[in-house]
Amino acid sequence: MTRDFSSTTCAVKSGYSPEELYQRICDLKKEMNALILAHYYTLPEIQQVADIVGDSLALARAAEKNNADVIVFAGVYFMAETAKILNPSRLVLMPDAYAGCPLADSCPADDFMKFKEQHPGALAITYINSTAEIKALSDITCTSSNAEQIIRQIPDGQQIIFGPDRNLGGYIARKLGREMILWQGYCYVHDAFSEPSILKTCAEHPDAELIAHPECREEVLRHAVFTGSTQAMLNYTVSSSAQKFIVATEPGILYEMQKRSPKKIFIPAPRDPENPRSVCTQMKQNTLEKLYQCMLTRQPEIVIDETLRLASLIPIRRMLEMSS
Ligand code: 13P
Ligand code: SF4
Repeated sequence: MTRDFSSTTCAVKSGYSPEELYQRICDLKKEMNALILAHYYTLPEIQQVADIVGDSLALARAAEKNNADVIVFAGVYFMAETAKILNPSRLVLMPDAYAGCPLADSCPADDFMKFKEQHPGALAITYINSTAEIKALSDITCTSSNAEQIIRQIPDGQQIIFGPDRNLGGYIARKLGREMILWQGYCYVHDAFSEPSILKTCAEHPDAELIAHPECREEVLRHAVFTGSTQAMLNYTVSSSAQKFIVATEPGILYEMQKRSPKKIFIPAPRDPENPRSVCTQMKQNTLEKLYQCMLTRQPEIVIDETLRLASLIPIRRMLEMSS
C-alpha cells in the first residue's frame, strides 16, 4: 500500500465552536476555490458543509468534472486517491489521511498478483474500494452503482476475477447467473449484519421494507425488498410508497434519507450482538475540526507516484466510459 502524504494529519485544535468552524470552512472554500466532496457515510455536519455529497461513483465523477483548484475529500483514502489519479494537477486534500478502508487494505498487491497468475486469461474487475496498486493490476474498476452494468458488457465465456469484496461479487454473479472468481475480502461494516438480527427487526416492524447494500452477506440480501448501492437505496426510499424502511448499510446515509423524505421512518439495521461493527469508524474520522485544519494548512495532501497514477488511471477511465 502506498500512502504518501506531504504531512501527517494536523493535531492542532482551533477552539472554535461547530458554527464558527462551519463559517470558516465556507470562507476558506471561496478563498481557495475549493470543492468539498463528502461520502454519505460521513458525519451529518460534514455532509452539511460539503458541496457535493454522494456515493463512490458520484464522487469519482464529481472529482473528474469540476473547475476547482483544490479538492477536499471527506471520505476514505482510496476515494481521495482516485480524485488525485483523475486530477494530477489539482491539490487534493483529506481531513484525515489515516482514514483508510479496511476492505481496500485487505487486498495486498503481491497477493493479488499471485491470484491473477492462478487464472491467466481472466479479466480483473475490481471494486473502486481498492488501493492504486490494485487498480494498476486491474482491467476495469467498478463501484457498487455500476458493477452490474459493467459486468453485463463482458462477453459470455470471458473468465472474470472480481475483488476485493466477495459479497458484492457474489451478489452480481448470482444476479447475472455468471461465474466469477472472487477475492475473499469483505467490508466489516456490511458483513456484520446477521440474518437472525435482521429477521428479528423485520418481525418487530412488519410494515417496514428491508433494503440492503450488496456488500451485505447473501443470507441478509435474500430477505431484502431492494438491494442497491448507497445512491440506489436512497433513490428507492424516495420513490417507494412504503413509509418505513429497515436500512442495512452504514447508518450515515440515514441523514440524507430523512432529509429527502422527512415523513418516512428509517430504522438502521441492527448490529449483530456477536459482531457489533456496523458503523464505519474510518468515515467518522472526518470531523469539522480536521476539515478546517486541512484547508487552513493545505495538508495532508494526497501525493501519488506518476507511473502508478498512469497505470491506475486506465481501469478508472474504462469504468467511467462503460458506465457513462
Ligand atoms: P457506495 O458508495 O458505492 O455505495 O459504496 C459503499 C461503501 O462502502 C463505500 O466505501
Ligand atoms: Fe471501507 Fe466498508 Fe468503510 Fe466503505 S463502509 S469505507 S467499504 S470499511
